[in-house]
Amino acid sequence: MIYDLIQARRSIRVYKDKPVNRELVEKVLAAAQWAPSGKNQQNWRFFVLTGTKRDAYLALSQKAWLQMKDLLEKRLKPSLYEFTERFFYTLGNAPVLIFAYCEPHPDENRQTSLGSVYMAVQNLLLAAQSEGLGTCPMGSPLRIESEVDAFLGVAGTGLKLVCGITLGWPDHEPPAATRQENRVTWIKD
Ligand SMILES: Cc1cc2nc3c(=O)[nH]c(=O)nc-3n(C[C@H](O)[C@H](O)[C@H](O)COP(=O)(O)O)c2cc1C
Repeated sequence: MIYDLIQARRSIRVYKDKPVNRELVEKVLAAAQWAPSGKNQQNWRFFVLTGTKRDAYLALSQKAWLQMKDLLEKRLKPSLYEFTERFFYTLGNAPVLIFAYCEPHPDENRQTSLGSVYMAVQNLLLAAQSEGLGTCPMGSPLRIESEVDAFLGVAGTGLKLVCGITLGWPDHEPPAATRQENRVTWIKD
């Protein structure tokens, strides 16, 4: 059931030392691209990193950490702070990194263009979940956006970074993160 799949998904930050074959990555990316999009522009663009290029990205991830660590030190308890630091330094050993970009449509509200990309990202997370794969969406690459653009060779193309995503075989079973209530208002007359 789709509801079970949605509730079972977790952000995975520790991965097995086991590759994900290319066909499977392509399968979840194909599911991503069945998402709805404003004016059906399908304005998502995905960049997939594996191997040495994936390894090289870790240096940038560590840079993002240096920008965030002071804030997180105040917010997180020490054990979670250390876990998060390790994640930024290793990306949980995820064998695949995916960067989702948006090609904004000139006639479209920017939020609509960006939102369409997140629709595709959520499809990707759930498709991966259904394959037994783990993912973690990451806004942190936005901290070093221009460096990520240069690293991926998209600087100056007009593409806008939306998020990074780790992908691999989960090697932990994190508990469900709590969900808040009172996020829905029913307006009645
Ligand atoms: C837009 C977005 C950005 C996120 N950025 C990060 C990130 O930079 N690093 C990280 O470890 N987790 C990141 N997360 C994962 C969230 O921390 C996670 O989804 C949330 O705590 C709920 O946990 P769950 O995904 O296991 O349900 C991000 C999630 C979203 C949707």
